[in-house]
Parts: sequence; C-alpha cells; structure tokens
Amino acid sequence: MSSLKRIFMLVCLLVIICVVLYIRIYLQKGVHYEVIFLEDYNTSDVAQDTITPLKGNKTFIIAPYYDNREGNLVRVLGIVHTEVTNLFCYFCCYGQKSLTFTKAMIDIHSDRFGFPFGLADINCYEPPKCQATYMYLDSTSGGDVVTQPRFEIRNRERQPFSADFTVCISTMYGNYSNALQFIQTIEMYKLLGAQRVTIYVKDCSQEVKKILDYYSKEGTVEVILWPIERYLRPSSKWHHEDSDDKDIGYYGQLSTLNDCLYKNMYKSKYVLLNDLDEIILPFEHMTWDGMMEKLQQENPNVGVFLFESHNFPQTAVTDGNFPNVSSWKKVPGFNLLNHVHREPSRPNIFNARKMIVDPRKVIQTSVHSVLKSFGESLNVPLQTALVHHCRGPHQPNLNRSLLINDRTIWKYNVSLISNVNRALSLISLPTGT
Ligand SMILES: *[C@@H]1O[C@H](CO)[C@@H](O)[C@H](O)[C@H]1NC(C)=O
Ligand SMILES: *[C@@H]1O[C@H](CO)[C@@H](O)[C@H](O)[C@H]1NC(C)=O
Ligand SMILES: *[C@@H]1O[C@H](CO)[C@@H](O)[C@H](O)[C@H]1NC(C)=O
Ligand SMILES: *[C@@H]1O[C@H](CO)[C@@H](O)[C@H](O)[C@H]1NC(C)=O
Ligand SMILES: *[C@@H]1O[C@H](CO)[C@@H](O)[C@H](O)[C@H]1NC(C)=O
Ligand SMILES: *[C@@H]1O[C@H](CO)[C@@H](O)[C@H](O)[C@H]1NC(C)=O
Repeated sequence: MSSLKRIFMLVCLLVIICVVLYIRIYLQKGVHYEVIFLEDYNTSDVAQDTITPLKGNKTFIIAPYYDNREGNLVRVLGIVHTEVTNLFCYFCCYGQKSLTFTKAMIDIHSDRFGFPFGLADINCYEPPKCQATYMYLDSTSGGDVVTQPRFEIRNRERQPFSADFTVCISTMYGNYSNALQFIQTIEMYKLLGAQRVTIYVKDCSQEVKKILDYYSKEGTVEVILWPIERYLRPSSKWHHEDSDDKDIGYYGQLSTLNDCLYKNMYKSKYVLLNDLDEIILPFEHMTWDGMMEKLQQENPNVGVFLFESHNFPQTAVTDGNFPNVSSWKKVPGFNLLNHVHREPSRPNIFNARKMIVDPRKVIQTSVHSVLKSFGESLNVPLQTALVHHCRGPHQPNLNRSLLINDRTIWKYNVSLISNVNRALSLISLPTGT
C-alpha cells in the first residue's frame, strides 16, 4: 500500500515535471531562453504608473521599449540599486500559452554620481518568433511572476512622425510657480516650431497646474506624473557627496530624460532636451525648422547638436515698453521680455550645453551630452543659436555694463504677446487675471 502510494506520488511528480512545467532550453546568439508553460499568463493588471516597484523595492520599472536598432532588443528603463545583479525578462510571446524568460544584461548609465540608485537599461534579446506585447520582470528565474504587474512593450507599433520637434522637460519640482515665464516659454516653443512639450511633473503651484491643464487640453503639453518621492528619497543635488544619505540624484532627472527620448523616438523627428527656464534661440532663422535643416544638411552624420548655454539674469531688468502687456502684472513669475542682457562666458568654466537630438541616433543620454549614440555630436557655433537661460545670476557681482545686450527674443514680441494674452484669457488663474 505504502509502496503503491510512493509510486503514485512519483508518477504525479513526473507528470508535474514533464507536463505542467515542461521546460525547454534553447540557444540563440548565445542567449539562453527557458519556457514555462501556463494556462494563462494574462490575468494580472498592466502597469499604468510611470514608476512601478518590483518585489523588494530595489528595482523600479519605468517602461520597456522595443529597440531593433542593434538586434531584436527589448530595452527596459529602470531605476536599480547597485546591489541588483540578477533580473529576468519574461516575455508573453504572441499566441503562446507560455512565458519565455531570459537573464537580462543590466547596463547602468555611467552618470550615476555616486548615488545608490540610478538609471539602468535592463536589456533582453527577444526570443525568436515571439512578438510579445507584454512582459514581466523579476529578480528570480522561473519565479511566480504572473501575480505581479505586466508591462506593455512600447515602440513596437510605429506610426509616421506626429511632430517635427518635441521638447522634453525633465522634472518640474520645488512647487514650481513661475507662471508668467512658463506660459511665455511654452508659447516661445510653439513659435519656434514645437508641436509637443513632454513634462515630467513632481509638483507645482496651483496656477501652474491650471496652465498645465490648459496646454494639455490644447494638445501641446503631455504631462507625465513623476512621483519619485513615493518610493525613493530624491536629492536636489547632482552629486551624492553633496547630499547626505539621499537615494537618487536630482529628482531622477536622468531617468525622465531617457524615458522622454524613447517615448518620442518614432513620434518626433527631433527631440530637445532642456529645462523649463531654457529656450534654444536661433540667430539666423526665426524657427528651429530652418536652422536644423541647414545644420543637418551641413552635417549629415550628426545626431546630437549641442548649444551653448547663456545666462540672462532675472536681476537685470530692461523694460521694452511693449503695448498690451498690462494684464501680465497680476500673473506670478518673471517676464522673459524684460531680460535681454546676458552674462559673458566665464573662461575655464564648463558650458553646460543643451541638446537637439535625432532620437533614433541616441542610445543613452545625459543632460549636457549623450552617453551612447550611433551618430556624431556637434558643438553648434554661437552665431547660429544659443540656449537662452533666464534665471538668477551666475555672476551676481558683475558690473551691469559688462553684460551683453542681446535682444533676440524681442524679434518675437508681436506674436508672443498676442499668444500669451490669448492663453491668459482662456486660463482662469486662481489669483485672478
Ligand atoms: C516597498 O515599499 C512599499 C511602500 O512604497 C512598502 O509598503 C513595502 O513594505 C516595501 N517593501 C519592502 C520589501 O521593503
Ligand atoms: C491574452 O489576452 C489577449 C487579450 O487581452 C488575448 O487576445 C490573448 O489570446 C490572451 N492570451 C492568452 C494566452 O490567454
Ligand atoms: C507649496 O506651496 C504652498 C503654498 O504656496 C504650500 O502650502 C505647500 O506646503 C508647498 N509645498 C511644498 C511641497 O513645498
Ligand atoms: C561699472 O562700470 C562703470 C564703467 O566701466 C564704472 O563707471 C562704474 O563705477 C562701475 N560700477 C561699479 C559698481 O563697479
Ligand atoms: C517687435 O516685433 C516687430 C514685428 O516682428 C518688429 O518689427 C519690432 O522691431 C519688434 N520690436 C522690438 C522692440 O524689437
Ligand atoms: C495691441 O492690441 C491691439 C488690440 O488688440 C492690437 O490692435 C495691436 O496690434 C496690439 N499691439 C501689439 C504690439 O501687439
């Protein structure tokens, strides 16, 4: 009786091993894949948030992006702790009642600045004949993943460009409240040729929230919520040694910039990576279109165009006496048209250039340069354009007579004033205008 029972159990075990959990191993390009057969891998919810923690809170997934520029890769952008060495991609291959998993190659971005958490590309080659729309990620192989969130693999379906220029703004933070300069900046981007402005929002003032809502409805602004502090202690500093025991640098800016790049890779001809107080202003052209056509024609192998940043201090005020701006007095924030003096470049100080990139030529980006790319980078000369950076002074003790008078932004006065007034008349700001 007991030996019969033992045989029965052995058969059961064999059935379980052979039938229910039949594991196939094969090789492709030296990549190991294993297959788990399942009745249904489809039951769990698809992750909707911008940041999704995996079990244990050491890895936070932003999103997987299909990337066949070099092999059949799925590049998962994620924030990982330095301790994380094992991650596995589980592909829900099209039409198969199975999950195919493989060990990921974790490529930590080199500009981590000493923080324990940083952006990584979690790279997996997709199995042959797979065509997955969804995948899971886990720190164990053969783990029970189907109870965890599923991730949609983006960029598999490609549509024609919906924008020539998309501006990526990483992390609006610090209760951002510079409403007037914000409206002017969005209107300047539009005048210069932006069809879309993607903004990662951590927090902002009530006025700015209204403005974001208005431009979202208009279709110009795409707001991506960035609740980084829900999971990590973000630093306001770049370097870990400047910021005690924080988890990740500068509100996770590098993660948002790279996500924005991949999100717009096949949607936008060019992507601009700059901050909200920055506008890439051409000198020889009125729009980015003409400027980029010329630059690209002269430099066909370049995918990354770097523009010198020049500071227009908010402390140097010049009244242009423009008509039709009386309603602006009630709007909180700085008025771009009042700041037309820039500080001279400081010799021996790094110019923090900002970029216009062909996103399809970039693999990993940092803030002032790219880390990995297919194309070349070009330093665009100052006579072509600059980054108009309107903020507090870098050189507060500089004699005003040494500031450089640069009224390029005044060229746009008529359309800018009229567009800002139109927006203000349609946004009912809480403080009343
Ligand atoms: C992960 O973080 C969440 C809060 O975001 C917390 O509730 C949970 O206990 C954490 N899990 C571990 C394993 O630390
Ligand atoms: C998973 O769900 C999709 C629809 O959401 C369905 O078309 C597909 O057949 C399902 N796959 C399996 C293996 O159940
Ligand atoms: C943001 O500003 C409001 C008032 O302007 C204040 O009540 C709130 O505490 C601030 N929030 C943060 C996160 O600083
Ligand atoms: C600024 O420069 C002007 C002209 O060079 C000079 O007359 C003036 O005294 C300077 N002011 C200060 C505060 O240094
Ligand atoms: C304002 O714009 C108009 C039309 O573009 C231009 O003619 C004028 O010179 C500009 N004003 C200033 C002060 O630059
Ligand atoms: C100011 O507004 C009036 C009436 O709306 C308009 O006719 C005029 O062209 C505007 N002037 C400028 C410089 O925008």
